[in-house]
Amino acid sequence: MHKLTSHGATGALLLVGASRGLGLAMAVEFLARGWSVVGTVRGSGRTKLHDLADEYKGRLEIESLDITQTNEIAALRERLSGRSFDMLFVNAGTANDNQGETIADVSTEEFVRVMVTNALSPMRVVEGLQDLVSGSGVIGVMSSGQGSVGNNEKGGHEIYRGSKAALNMYMRSYAARHAGEARALALIAPGWIRTELGGPDAPLSIGESIPKVVDVLVAQQGRPGLRYLDRDGNAVPW
Ligand SMILES: NC(=O)c1ccc[n+]([C@@H]2O[C@H](COP(=O)([O-])OP(=O)(O)OC[C@H]3O[C@@H](n4cnc5c(N)ncnc54)[C@H](OP(=O)(O)O)[C@@H]3O)[C@@H](O)[C@H]2O)c1
Repeated sequence: MHKLTSHGATGALLLVGASRGLGLAMAVEFLARGWSVVGTVRGSGRTKLHDLADEYKGRLEIESLDITQTNEIAALRERLSGRSFDMLFVNAGTANDNQGETIADVSTEEFVRVMVTNALSPMRVVEGLQDLVSGSGVIGVMSSGQGSVGNNEKGGHEIYRGSKAALNMYMRSYAARHAGEARALALIAPGWIRTELGGPDAPLSIGESIPKVVDVLVAQQGRPGLRYLDRDGNAVPW
């Protein structure tokens, strides 16, 4: 018997970027709550998500997607044609290799890589896969507290911050274009967490954040409009 969500129902999740880190932990958490999950990884190599699929036969399917490749987004849309998901969540993201470098220092190539991965590509995934989400479903994207313009009083992580602020802006534009629709839209700030991206000095473990993030996402069901929320469900200043 699967544990039911706080809304008393389980659902179907399409989770983009589930090979490791926070995305993998989200897959684990949703599966533990009885959801069925289609999780994407890059390329064809074996990942920890494949180990999880062995454990959750039939409830976890693995698909391949590099979010920066528009042809791969279109191909995934085609492969999933006819399916309906209660939630699409785009977790995939990156950071510039040298987090200390400023906008004055960063190479154009590295700036473009981070912006394309964190701002443009998640939106292309949302635009390309939105039709797979039920009319009253949830579309979520992993943002960051660092994407808050209003909270940026200390600076630092300039390139990454800019990419998540841009992502937030594009989601607001998406929400404006889809005003009046029943779907819930969410940008999530999960906190600073020890992953490959977050590094060893982050204050939070994955287990201290992700179950809360999943609570927040599940609670968005049936709540139309866009919200930028932290792991406790509190609004983050834009
Ligand atoms: N950790 C933190 O403190 C923190 C805080 C706030 C927000 N976030 C955000 O949370 C998300 C996950 O971060 P994380 O800490 O779990 O980082 P991570 O451990 O480095 O994992 C990054 C994930 O994104 C995937 N990914 C990267 N580029 C991709 C692409 N082009 N196409 C498809 N998948 C791609 C990776 O896949 P591969 O295995 O193929 O590389 C991996 O699954 C990111 O959006 C990040 O910005 C993290």
